[in-house]
Amino acid sequence: MRWLPLFLLLGIAAAQAAASANTPAKAPPGRFKDAQCIACHGPDSPEVQGWRLSKHGVLVRISSPGRAPGCVDCHGAEAHRPANPEAMREVCGKCHSPRYLETLAANGQRMVAVGEMKQREALALLAQARRQFPAERLQAMEAHYHHLQQHLRNIHLGVGHQSPDHQWWHGHPALDGDLLRIKGAYDDLLRASRKQP
Ligand code: HEC
Ligand code: HEC
Ligand code: HEC
Repeated sequence: MRWLPLFLLLGIAAAQAAASANTPAKAPPGRFKDAQCIACHGPDSPEVQGWRLSKHGVLVRISSPGRAPGCVDCHGAEAHRPANPEAMREVCGKCHSPRYLETLAANGQRMVAVGEMKQREALALLAQARRQFPAERLQAMEAHYHHLQQHLRNIHLGVGHQSPDHQWWHGHPALDGDLLRIKGAYDDLLRASRKQP
């Protein structure tokens, strides 16, 4: 079971590379429909995959129209704006009870907060390494930290899109792996510098 997230990691890295290859660098102005959001962000992008694998995404595909929300229902047709939490309460409230949503929001916030705590730990270690070692020796640590930021974004996306798969497999275990690798890379640097006379 422990090696499973590695496969997922490689899959995400490939998906992200594919998505960024055909996505414009800047968010274009205009009003869009779900199919356009999906095509431009990339069907394999973490934001689209997270939604697609959520119950909402599945219901939009297999159930009657309007039973579950798509991109525009939550983000608005003008898009590119972070979903507004106040507006979200209203959007979700059309179909779910306030109590259910409160519990959900609290769990989501906790999950993101734990992710951010791990990020701070990684960043503190990286900052220390940056003071101790020249940039060319920090490539491994910087690369692991870059992945960690992507996995933190997956947690954020999974929470926003109610996608357990993204919160979990593509989120916390992957982030834990990054943190361990950052610690390992730092230990390697220390060990190598001690060996030098
Ligand atoms: C023609 C391409 C294109 C279309 C269509 C498009 N987007 Fe975007 N969107 C982008 C780009 C480029 C960015 C900025 C780079 C990034 O964050 O990936 C972006 C950024 C965003 C962001 C992040 C904003 C932030 O502040 O972090 C959200 C959310 C978003 N888009 C949602 C949508 C939704 C929802 C739709 C459909 C209603 C949509 N986009 C349609 C290209 C597009
Ligand atoms: C059920 C409501 C809902 C639906 C449906 C939905 N989103 Fe989101 N989305 C959110 C929330 C909530 C967040 C987290 C808060 C934020 O960053 O906007 C989020 C986050 C995002 C982000 C990340 C923004 C960032 O901060 O990096 C992108 C990009 C995005 N959504 C695009 C999409 C696209 C494309 C679709 C359709 C395939 C979609 N969303 C469907 C609610 C939704
Ligand atoms: C248009 C109606 C609609 C809207 C709007 C909507 N949902 Fe849903 N949602 C559904 C339906 C239908 C289901 C499937 C219920 C089931 O499990 O049978 C669902 C399922 C869910 C689930 C999965 C529950 C489970 O048992 O796995 C979560 C979590 C969820 N919604 C949260 C939200 C949040 C948060 C929002 C707002 C950002 C939202 N929903 C907006 C209709 C909606």
